[in-house]
Amino acid sequence: MTGVSAQRILLVIGGGIAAYKALELIRRLRERSYVVRAVMTAAARHFVTPLSVTSLTGTKVYDDLFAVSDEATMGHIELSRDADLLVVAPATADLLAKMARGHADDLASTLLLATDKKILVAPAMNVRMWLASPTQRNVATLREDGVLFVGPEDGDMACGEHGPGRMSEPAAILGAIEAALRGETRIPLPQHLAPGRRLAGRRVVVTSGPTHEPIDPVRYIGNRSSGKQGHAIALAAAEAGAEVVLVSGPVALQDPAGVSTIRVETAQEMLAAVEAALPADAFVSVAAVADWRPAAPAPEKLKKGRGTAPALTLVETPDILAKVAARPSGRPALVVGFAAETENLLDHARSKLARKGCDMIIANDVGAAGSVMGLDANEVTLLTPGSAETWPRMSKSEVAHRLVERLADMLDRLDHER
Ligand code: CTP
Repeated sequence: MTGVSAQRILLVIGGGIAAYKALELIRRLRERSYVVRAVMTAAARHFVTPLSVTSLTGTKVYDDLFAVSDEATMGHIELSRDADLLVVAPATADLLAKMARGHADDLASTLLLATDKKILVAPAMNVRMWLASPTQRNVATLREDGVLFVGPEDGDMACGEHGPGRMSEPAAILGAIEAALRGETRIPLPQHLAPGRRLAGRRVVVTSGPTHEPIDPVRYIGNRSSGKQGHAIALAAAEAGAEVVLVSGPVALQDPAGVSTIRVETAQEMLAAVEAALPADAFVSVAAVADWRPAAPAPEKLKKGRGTAPALTLVETPDILAKVAARPSGRPALVVGFAAETENLLDHARSKLARKGCDMIIANDVGAAGSVMGLDANEVTLLTPGSAETWPRMSKSEVAHRLVERLADMLDRLDHER
């Protein structure tokens, strides 16, 4: 049945092993009376045949060969505007990159650029490709542009690896299509996600480590932060199923597994990387960002023996946490800061919570007596506008896991309140 009210889906099938699942998706869409037009990229033809797609959609398949004969009956623009929703499944790393950059060098990318309709993508690729910084940057750009995502999910992959990158199952994509057509922007999680993965479907941005602010090409202003706590939080969030972007200053630690890590040096670079990684559900600002930087770093190494010691003029660095918390649009639902203090811990931390406009501050004493910088243990107090809770001394990894549970609780509560 394709009555007047039947909704129209334009399905772009990318070239990946998951393309076979697109056939099942078409079948399910047709069962529910959607009109489905399909476009295949050249690479998709290596995985499924146009004939099988045509026989399921009941209409012709569009690909790059159609241009000459079909332009008269249905042009590119019309094809994408005629749809109620564009769905890209599987969305390969290459297709996402083209979409993020606005390429239009084949029919699929042209349609995706020319449309004025919502686009839902179901990524499918190798885990390393998914976690690679360029892909994560493209995903962030597309989210910012309003593109909706379903998946990818964790699991065993055709290439023999395990991790996020598997395309969502057709049933989950169908659920996401129906949610998108209802105008929902938060796509429901697939039913079968493993319990305990409390942050599945969430995106979390974490900063970690110190920043280095150059004085000259060889010297800098820095601090003693090791990055251990920030890296542990990024890892724990990834283990809880979140898509995590870690923006790290210079540290001697390895990049955590399953996390997309972006390395920066200065506060300004850290701010730029964080802004590029947003939007996100939560921002956790663990980095010990240098508060000042030399106003004009010397282009060459400063030399001794010129009579007087050089005077350093310092200017303030951007306050990344305060800027993220104050974003007029695209503010993460949860903005969490750390307060490293050497005296009057709770008073200073509470005033930071208010001054920086965040939802929670985690206070820790970095003074001589309770020194934690570089160590493996931490003792923290969680402050929100209405509560204070001190945790006993525990490993930084345990702090990270408990904190991730807390973030998941807070995000779930916010979802319920909406
Ligand atoms: N922070 C930030 N950008 C800065 C300075 C700090 O994002 N330029 C964040 C830190 O990541 C941390 C919180 O702000 O989450 C508090 O950092 P802290 O160094 O304790 O506070 P300061 O802003 O330096 O304030 P004060 O000088 O009063 O200690």
